[in-house]
Amino acid sequence: MAVGSEWWRSAVIYQIYPRSFSEGAGATGVGDLAGITARLPALVELGVDAVWVSPFYPSPQKDAGYDVADYCAVDPLFGTLADFDALLKEAHGLGLKFIVDLVPNHTSDQHAWFQAALASPKGSDDRDHYIFREGLGKAGELPPNNWESVFGGPAWTRVIEPDGAPGQWYLHLFDTSQPDLNWHSAWVHEQFREILRFWLGRGVDGFRVDVAHGLMKAPGLPDYTPPVNANSMGLQQELSSDDEPPTPPYWAQDTVHAIYRDWHRVLEQYPGEQVLVAEAWVEPLSKLARWVRPDEMQQAFNFAYLENPWDATAVREIIDGSLAAFGAVGAPSTWVLSNHDVVRHATRLSLVGDHPQGVGVGPASTGVPDRAFGLRRARAATAVMLALPGSAYLYQGEELGLPEVIDLPDTARQDPTWARTHHERYGRDGCRVPLPWEAHAPAYGFSDSGQSWLPQPPYWGGYARDAQAGDEGSTLELYRAALRLRASETLGTGIVTWLEGYPSTALAFSNANVTVIANAGREHVMLPKGELLLSSQPGTVDVLEPDTTVWLRI
Ligand code: GLC
Repeated sequence: MAVGSEWWRSAVIYQIYPRSFSEGAGATGVGDLAGITARLPALVELGVDAVWVSPFYPSPQKDAGYDVADYCAVDPLFGTLADFDALLKEAHGLGLKFIVDLVPNHTSDQHAWFQAALASPKGSDDRDHYIFREGLGKAGELPPNNWESVFGGPAWTRVIEPDGAPGQWYLHLFDTSQPDLNWHSAWVHEQFREILRFWLGRGVDGFRVDVAHGLMKAPGLPDYTPPVNANSMGLQQELSSDDEPPTPPYWAQDTVHAIYRDWHRVLEQYPGEQVLVAEAWVEPLSKLARWVRPDEMQQAFNFAYLENPWDATAVREIIDGSLAAFGAVGAPSTWVLSNHDVVRHATRLSLVGDHPQGVGVGPASTGVPDRAFGLRRARAATAVMLALPGSAYLYQGEELGLPEVIDLPDTARQDPTWARTHHERYGRDGCRVPLPWEAHAPAYGFSDSGQSWLPQPPYWGGYARDAQAGDEGSTLELYRAALRLRASETLGTGIVTWLEGYPSTALAFSNANVTVIANAGREHVMLPKGELLLSSQPGTVDVLEPDTTVWLRI
């Protein structure tokens, strides 16, 4: 394949969150690898090109698997390495590319490396694999600096030394159980090269790199106070502006790029077109684009796009900004509306007020409109996203129009954010509720036993895949039709040309031979004459209602 035509440049990639996708074996109420294998045909029918599977590695599951205790194995909760190989083979047999999750910023505190660090004296090689520091204060009783954990509370925890006395502190930008690795250590670099080779050798098509902006910290670990309007990653909300906001000393350090150049070279040693995808909460887009320079990663999640409200001017600006910023380094733009860390877009796009990443919504949240209104907007927004050139990411369940589950009982919540903020931030459980497959089966088809690690709400059956399949007006059929047309009209490799003559509250552009018009305003928009290829709302004829998107052939 010629350079510039690699599969990932235009792919639609479906995120599987294993614990909530489907349970194929056992009766724990947690999804597993066998469950994914059995359900892959549904994703082929949906029309995606690839899957990205969130972590399934051995883990105490303090952060739903993003606390890895062994990078080269499968947690018995999810199956075995043989199950993994079977899944990968099946996916490839069905023509799906397969991306795994890599978590290099931190390990679990149960990882053998961290256990060795704890058991070893200060200043030892084992300690040097993590970020240990002496505390401040007379007796070292204060944390080494003022950094806060993304999940709330201090980013430092003090250890008891092998001699039984309170001693050094270790850094954890996330939960206490997720100590940050020291990427100044050559030994850490070598371990991760080996981990990449382990999975590449098994045949994976790439890695989604967790917290890809966090690995290097500023020398001296200086104090930092995030701006007042920061999201939970410590970043300001306005991602679209091109002014570079201050860089927190724990994110987006220039020195991080050498790591990805190194990994790029590791990937090059394998035949095929493997991909590194950055989960990097970096602003503005022109800075994020440094992660996808030709000798670094292939893609970066476009969170600036995700964080936009349903507002035509803002969306147009971010589309232009994304195409320009990624285009400037020869990378495809990516698009994403939902993932396992944010409020599902079938709820988020209708919320009133700010709901930054990771904060979540729950029973006490205000400004949560009804589900039908949110779904209508989500369908319109999805129909815009899937018409854009580049690569689009879908999060499991969005094709069913699933809303955020707001009324989870407090006792069921498992995201560490909930406990670490003393119940101030609900966190991310509401977007992680196990999927409904069959309206009339136990656990809506998620598990044979009827178990589900987070409770499914009583209205889940209405969203079940089998209830939507074949129903022309359903969200599932809208996604299928959009993905079919995206492929047949080659929208993934097209060019956006904005069309004039529409109200400023509408988005109107052409891509290849398709004209896309989205109405984000409150007034009707008259449609031009043409063949209706797709509408996010059934019954659209020549008038475009608010919160509706159409694809036309003019
Ligand atoms: C990433 C993951 C998130 C996890 C965090 C710490 O942001 O997407 O789920 O909690 O990293 O690993």
